[in-house]
Amino acid sequence: MTSIRITAFKLHLPFVFSLMLLMFVSSAAVFAQQPGADGLGDRLYPRLGNGGYDVQHYSINLAFKPESNTIAATAVLEAVALLDLASFNLDLYELTVNSVRVDDIEATFTREEAELVISPAQSIPAGAAFQIAVTYAGVPQPIVDPAVPFVKLGWQEWDDGYFAAVSEPSGSMNWFPCNNHPLDKATYTLRIAVPRPLTAVANGVLSETIANDDGTRTFVWEMEQPMATYLATVAIGDFVAARDNSGIVPIRNFFPTGASDASIAGYDVTGDMMVWLSDMLGPYPFGAYGVVVIPGFPAALETQSISIFGASGADELVLLHELLHQWFGNSVTLSKWSDAWLHEGFATYFMALWLGEQYGAGAFSSFISSLLTSGTALSAPGNPEKTDLFGWSVYARGALVLHALRGEVGDETFFEILRTFYSENAYGNVATTDFIAAAERISERELDDLFDAWLYGERIPDLP
Ligand code: TRP
Ligand code: ZN
Repeated sequence: MTSIRITAFKLHLPFVFSLMLLMFVSSAAVFAQQPGADGLGDRLYPRLGNGGYDVQHYSINLAFKPESNTIAATAVLEAVALLDLASFNLDLYELTVNSVRVDDIEATFTREEAELVISPAQSIPAGAAFQIAVTYAGVPQPIVDPAVPFVKLGWQEWDDGYFAAVSEPSGSMNWFPCNNHPLDKATYTLRIAVPRPLTAVANGVLSETIANDDGTRTFVWEMEQPMATYLATVAIGDFVAARDNSGIVPIRNFFPTGASDASIAGYDVTGDMMVWLSDMLGPYPFGAYGVVVIPGFPAALETQSISIFGASGADELVLLHELLHQWFGNSVTLSKWSDAWLHEGFATYFMALWLGEQYGAGAFSSFISSLLTSGTALSAPGNPEKTDLFGWSVYARGALVLHALRGEVGDETFFEILRTFYSENAYGNVATTDFIAAAERISERELDDLFDAWLYGERIPDLP
């Protein structure tokens, strides 16, 4: 028995060794070159964003034909590899990809749902800077996202020949290939060619307007601060531009031609709001601000440095809400979508603060009471399901989280917490735990119970 066993062992030893060697070599190969993940692990959006690389800059060169709502574009992404990449993904919804080049060498690619899977001719070593150029065209297809039942997302036509991309949270991949998750922020150059008399408005500062030989004009916009993909926008239409120097950076608004003076005047308060918020939180974070008004757009969205509004007239509180998002949302950005209260709760609470500042304590407290009227119907805002992501609880009870904190720590400490949390995280990403940690550190108190109850408790607590 024993000898047989030994014999058997001896017989198998080389086999076992070669198996181990094979496993070692193949696992080493896996470590050496692997595909980037097709998502960034967001609980609500597992396939948004991609692993294995970090985009630094998007340069999008896009020509637009309004008659057919067709785009023809090249997007050049400057990225850094985080792994040894044999292949990697971008997010792209529909459209036709004509070519992909990686470091100027033709790459092969496949499409799988909203993923563009790219295999470069040579794998990319971890740490290397590399460039991806995607040439693509087509008619952008609006995206249905259960988080926003009131609107379709991405590039689309609104009323009267006005076009605009509104994308929070998933829509940007309907007009450019991207790492479509707020964790991967990047700077942008957007070069948009449109026929006269149309204007193309986009994020950041207009650096150049080029008259092309074919009669079109190219508008070149630079967003020099980091931006999440969902905040990237292009708005195209027959606009009149209006400048306003009452803020701390240039304000340039774009209104549909023929907009009434009264509807335009509704936006005059923007500069005062910007000064007030800058005093409270730290300087407005981007090189310019403004609104673009789009006929038929049924909501408002805080697209970075150029918020988009519908044509139904400026509502002062909505104006304040979208402007506040430039600090909380756009500069300080969530790391996972289920933390949306960090954007919407903050923006809603500042609506109350603005009312208090402008119209007195009564206006402040009646706004707070109006948040409370839905009472027990306000579900926990801290970890919503996708269909509740932009629901009233995230806005209203999210705002009340801040009001409860203020009641607990007092005014001076409360505003110190907001200022510090903002300045320590400007242009970055945060999680709820970062806010709690900042609040505890600055107030020198244990606040777990308060945050747990307000963010995650089934029943809405009593205010302190
Ligand atoms: N962030 C927007 C706000 O509260 C709400 C929103 C989310 C939205 N996704 C959208 C508005 C898409 C318009 C389109 O200000
Ligand atoms: Zn908001």
